[in-house]
Amino acid sequence: MAAHSTLKTATIGSTGNAPDLAIEVRNLTRSFRKRKGWFRSGELVDAVRGISFDVPRGTIFGILGPNGAGKTTTIKMLSTLLVPTSGTALINGFDVERDELMVRRQLGVLFGGDKGLYNQLNGRENLRYFGRLYGMDDAAIARRSAELLAKVSLEDRATERVESYSRGMKQRLHIAKTLLHEPIMTILDEPTIGLDPAAAIEVRELIANLVPEHTVLLTTHDMHEADVLCREIAIIDRGLIVAQGSPSELKARADVDRRIIITLGDDPGRGWDRAATIRRLEAPPMISQVSIDPGDDAGLALTIRCTDTTAGLDEALAVLRESGIGIRGIEIREPSLEDAFLSATGREFEEAESDVAKDGDALDKPGAASELTDEADR
Ligand SMILES: Nc1ncnc2c1ncn2[C@@H]1O[C@H](COP(=O)(O)OP(=O)(O)O)[C@@H](O)[C@H]1O
Ligand SMILES: [Mg+2]
Repeated sequence: MAAHSTLKTATIGSTGNAPDLAIEVRNLTRSFRKRKGWFRSGELVDAVRGISFDVPRGTIFGILGPNGAGKTTTIKMLSTLLVPTSGTALINGFDVERDELMVRRQLGVLFGGDKGLYNQLNGRENLRYFGRLYGMDDAAIARRSAELLAKVSLEDRATERVESYSRGMKQRLHIAKTLLHEPIMTILDEPTIGLDPAAAIEVRELIANLVPEHTVLLTTHDMHEADVLCREIAIIDRGLIVAQGSPSELKARADVDRRIIITLGDDPGRGWDRAATIRRLEAPPMISQVSIDPGDDAGLALTIRCTDTTAGLDEALAVLRESGIGIRGIEIREPSLEDAFLSATGREFEEAESDVAKDGDALDKPGAASELTDEADR
């Protein structure tokens, strides 16, 4: 690490050429040598295999991928805890290898797990402690803590010891801690992992409210989280970005049909010409295929594959009404991020998660990596 270049670069200022970008990543890779006992003589693991992306200021950017995809490795490189094997990353124009100190000043980073707060101190005291560690003066700490405790809805509990906090409250305090020194960029590694659903919702609301004042890069293996929070998502699998775009772009590109599933009411009866109904349903141009199967309960389920569910539903209802067939339920299935992952990788997301679980002795459990190990890994 060329620490001597840091000061020089700092006086020159950021080296990036796109001031509206908080992060610019180009062809970033990282390999590890698997440990064999005390030695690093084992096989090479290519954790990140050449990824590129930009994060515009004031937005939430998500790295979505199954366990072992390379998410944590990526953000450790961005936050200078790991040296890239090759490629470049600029944070606010500063290079993670050449301008390490300046990069760290731009960043507030949250890694998964419970560590990093003092249980015996109360919420406000924790912020004071970390503010002093960052070199802030007490007046600035007091002002910033008041703002942040309000932002993370912990004003009322600020004088209670952190040991009495729920996991969700701790995570919110953690996020306040990452924002203390007014970083330009906040990096959150799986911010809701291990939280109960209600606490996860609160943390997501908090994250959603960080923009546009802050810029957020988060990793997650939760499709729903990525969907609701992120302006843009990079889907990462086995160290590569396999698809990237806004949630709606990714879903629209997923190579799956939209489906309308109509549960038919009472048995349409003997007079019903099933084949003729299917033919009529298939006639409109936006409907590609119709099938009738036994439904979950007694009824029949009509599955209509179509390019446009709104127009398709209109047509289908008209045909069924004319044929005098009653309807018990309607379900519309639009492509999801799961479908986007499947289209991009040929595997189900769940399957990808369990692949790693089977394979993975080196799997990084949330919060398992200590910062000392990280330093040693650099
Ligand atoms: N320090 C390390 N030594 C060896 N292999 C590692 C190390 N850290 C991560 N890996 C491997 O790199 C791959 C990506 O890991 P990681 O970045 O933690 O994935 P994610 O955060 O997406 O779950 C995995 O196969 C993991 O086992
Ligand atoms: Mg991880």
